[in-house]
Amino acid sequence: MTKQKIKRTVLKHQLLTGEKATLKLEENDVFQFLKSLKPGSVDVLVTDPPYAGMNQYLKLGKGRIVGKYADKGKEDGKWFKEFADTEENYRTFLEACQRAINPETGHLYLMFDSYSMLSLAPLVREYFEVKNMITWDKVNIGMGHYFRRRHEFIIFATHGNTRKIRNRSFPDVWRFKRQHRAAWPTQKPVELFQAMIYASAEPGFTVCDPFMGSGSAAVAALLNECHFVGCDSSDQAYKLAVKRLTGFLNTGKDFVQPKSAAVAGEKIFWEEPL
Ligand SMILES: C[S@@+](CC[C@H](N)C(=O)[O-])C[C@H]1O[C@@H](n2cnc3c(N)ncnc32)[C@H](O)[C@@H]1O
Repeated sequence: MTKQKIKRTVLKHQLLTGEKATLKLEENDVFQFLKSLKPGSVDVLVTDPPYAGMNQYLKLGKGRIVGKYADKGKEDGKWFKEFADTEENYRTFLEACQRAINPETGHLYLMFDSYSMLSLAPLVREYFEVKNMITWDKVNIGMGHYFRRRHEFIIFATHGNTRKIRNRSFPDVWRFKRQHRAAWPTQKPVELFQAMIYASAEPGFTVCDPFMGSGSAAVAALLNECHFVGCDSSDQAYKLAVKRLTGFLNTGKDFVQPKSAAVAGEKIFWEEPL
């Protein structure tokens, strides 16, 4: 693997305690980035990897349906680099996460679509203690050929510790509207990451997303009074995330996700008590 040139931006935000917290955003490859972190320095790792499972396994008619983006003028005909859906690649990723996450406090939230779920998710148990499988109900239905897709999965695991989540009455089905015509392809709602971070982090904790895309998890970390470290190998994603977080810190507004993804009238975690 060739070494990727690293660009880095460090932003500061003030916690309610008056202390400063940092948001470190890098343009970097996931493996190079995770290796660069101090072992055990991450309290909560939340991430949404760019799986290639659907491309590999969902064969329709004569060929593949996804990845046909050439007409959209993207490099290699793809919006962004995919993450090879192989056991070897995923094991390397899980080992790198295991090294970076704090054994005493570490919680992990790994997102999966239905395709990579079947091939890769069972491996997670070999590295972490899987506690539950959360379903993200995207509320607004997406595309699909054999049933239209309206959900994704999130594996919740610990680094073998028994640290609890904030409130044991939180449910394992989360309803937040998917981001349609978003600034970044596959952009996830900030609320999805807020749910993970609110459940698992205390103020001052370090949250990590090594496939940060537009930086949705970084916004959620900021809203939960946490430090953030994250990277994306795409220059476009890195620049968008830096612009988004800088804008958010200066104005309190999120130009990448201007509207809430919460469903009107439905209770969300951080509006306790449940
Ligand atoms: C599913 S998207 C994440 C979207 C993000 N959660 C958001 O809300 O915007 C996956 C991201 O992984 C990035 N990526 C692909 N290969 C990578 C690699 N080897 N290292 C780091 N990032 C990578 C892509 O550029 C893409 O932005």
